[in-house]
Amino acid sequence: MKKIGILTGGADCPGLNSVIRAIVRKGIQDGYVITGIKNGWLGLIDNDMKVLDLKQTSGILDRGGTLLGTSRINPLDNPEQIRKIEENYKRSGIDALIVVGGEVTLKVALELYRRKVIKVIGVPKSIDNSLSGTDYAFGFDTAVNVATECIDRLHTTAESHHRIMVIEVMGRYTGWVALESGIAGGADIIMIPEMPVDIEEVCESLRRRHQRGKTFSIIVVAEGVKCKDHPEFSEVVDKQHRFGGISESIAQAIEQGTGYDTRVSVLGYIQRGGTPSAYDRIIGTRFGVHAISLAREEKFGQMVSLHNNVIQSVPIERAVEERKTVNMEIYDMAKVFFAE
Ligand code: F6P
Repeated sequence: MKKIGILTGGADCPGLNSVIRAIVRKGIQDGYVITGIKNGWLGLIDNDMKVLDLKQTSGILDRGGTLLGTSRINPLDNPEQIRKIEENYKRSGIDALIVVGGEVTLKVALELYRRKVIKVIGVPKSIDNSLSGTDYAFGFDTAVNVATECIDRLHTTAESHHRIMVIEVMGRYTGWVALESGIAGGADIIMIPEMPVDIEEVCESLRRRHQRGKTFSIIVVAEGVKCKDHPEFSEVVDKQHRFGGISESIAQAIEQGTGYDTRVSVLGYIQRGGTPSAYDRIIGTRFGVHAISLAREEKFGQMVSLHNNVIQSVPIERAVEERKTVNMEIYDMAKVFFAE
């Protein structure tokens, strides 16, 4: 085996360039030609790829985003795209493809591997940390750090104006970013998709907190949260399954229910952009180097993973068959600090 391809698919996140750099550096050292595929699966469909060398991939460790570009294409819905992927993959002479992505990208990789279209190695990427089979995906740590810094900043303005601040973070189906940034940022309430909330109960705890003399509160909301007493709030999810905006409805209901001045801050893409944390650079680098070892050992269909700080691998199906939802022990611990 001589030629290894790499693509980054789905949502971008900090740390992708650390993985690309590590794959190119280790791959070249081990005698491989590394071909970068542009814009996720789209690059294989359009035959948009180029050989990556040390020069192109130097100085990128600390840069957010992905040097290769990305897209949210899911070719499984389109047989013509699958045909093009197969054709261009064969024509490129790539012997194995390292696919860096989250749930959807890795599901596509697994299916193409099962259909014997490509030989694949997976690398887990997700700011949501929703991939099973690994303690962490890179991108998550940076998102938690960015969200925590924002919560700290919003804390001081909420306190000065005696307001309730509802801060919406990413997390469509899992509340990891909300939970960890909420704990680190001292949130008074954390709302996660795994635990539907009752707005009236929330209002009651806020009233009790304010009766104790507190004049402000911080609420961290994952975008995918469900409200038991207001199922209609979740209808803000649009046709493309884009989330974002539920905090507006939650804030209005809280203001009406408590009479307290309530404001919203949706953190959005800020959580995905910019410089990766040291931790994400380190695990991204470790993942990239290990992906080359897996390719050399021809351990196809495997995804690089992290367990108790040891880099290992698991079958890709283990990572994608079930989402890794929030650890409820940690959520219950966080409740010790909720408004009461
Ligand atoms: O998949 C990660 C994620 O950050 C989600 O939490 C969020 O809903 C989504 O990406 C939004 O991404 P885009 O608008 O790029 O599809």
